[in-house]
Amino acid sequence: MSFIREFILYSRKGRTDASFLNLRDAGRLDVVQECIVASLFLSHGIRRNTVFHAFLGGPPSPPLHLRIDGAFLRDVRTDQLTWGKILRKVLSGKPHPGITVEKRSFESLLKAFSGNVNVFVLEEDGKNVFEVDFGEHPVFVLGDHIGLPKKVEKFALRYGEKISLGKQPYLAATCITILNYLLDHFELFKETKGGKV
Ligand SMILES: C[S@@+](CC[C@H](N)C(=O)[O-])C[C@H]1O[C@@H](n2cnc3c(N)ncnc32)[C@H](O)[C@@H]1O
Repeated sequence: MSFIREFILYSRKGRTDASFLNLRDAGRLDVVQECIVASLFLSHGIRRNTVFHAFLGGPPSPPLHLRIDGAFLRDVRTDQLTWGKILRKVLSGKPHPGITVEKRSFESLLKAFSGNVNVFVLEEDGKNVFEVDFGEHPVFVLGDHIGLPKKVEKFALRYGEKISLGKQPYLAATCITILNYLLDHFELFKETKGGKV
């Protein structure tokens, strides 16, 4: 059995139009691209049970909600060049299978989940990840290269709890890889032992 998992990256400066030459100079959209790949890609496959969100807070028209649903994602590769083209395309209003862009705030998405999911805010000083029950529909909130703004963290904690992967400060994409690994492991354990992890 494979539960749904969602990752939300809060990108403070991510560019909100298509007028950029490279992802790094577009308010660190390269961090968004790394997190997309870590969330949705297996070797030779896409995680069909996973949804990735990024909230882009850069100019010219923040906030934008980029949503990528692994169930419908097609015509993709993992490299930065490919994602540069895809992000330019969807940020200029053109369609791509599995990807939507809308004018929406982080706060509005969290409100819309309304208790049907388990929200976890990734912070170094949170509860030890090995003591956490992820439930059947975990949603993970991560900061970008700078970290989560305090007021965003405070808002998210109304809906969930803070969890930690340890004292090492990891890249956001590395955190996602670790979480995907742990979830894969826990799900396999539940399937084979039929019990609580
Ligand atoms: C590159 S880190 C930013 C680190 C930065 N030093 C800061 O001020 O937060 C990006 C995000 O990864 C997550 N993160 C990094 N290391 C973590 C850890 N050990 N445990 C939990 N989350 C972590 C947090 O959500 C953080 O906002």
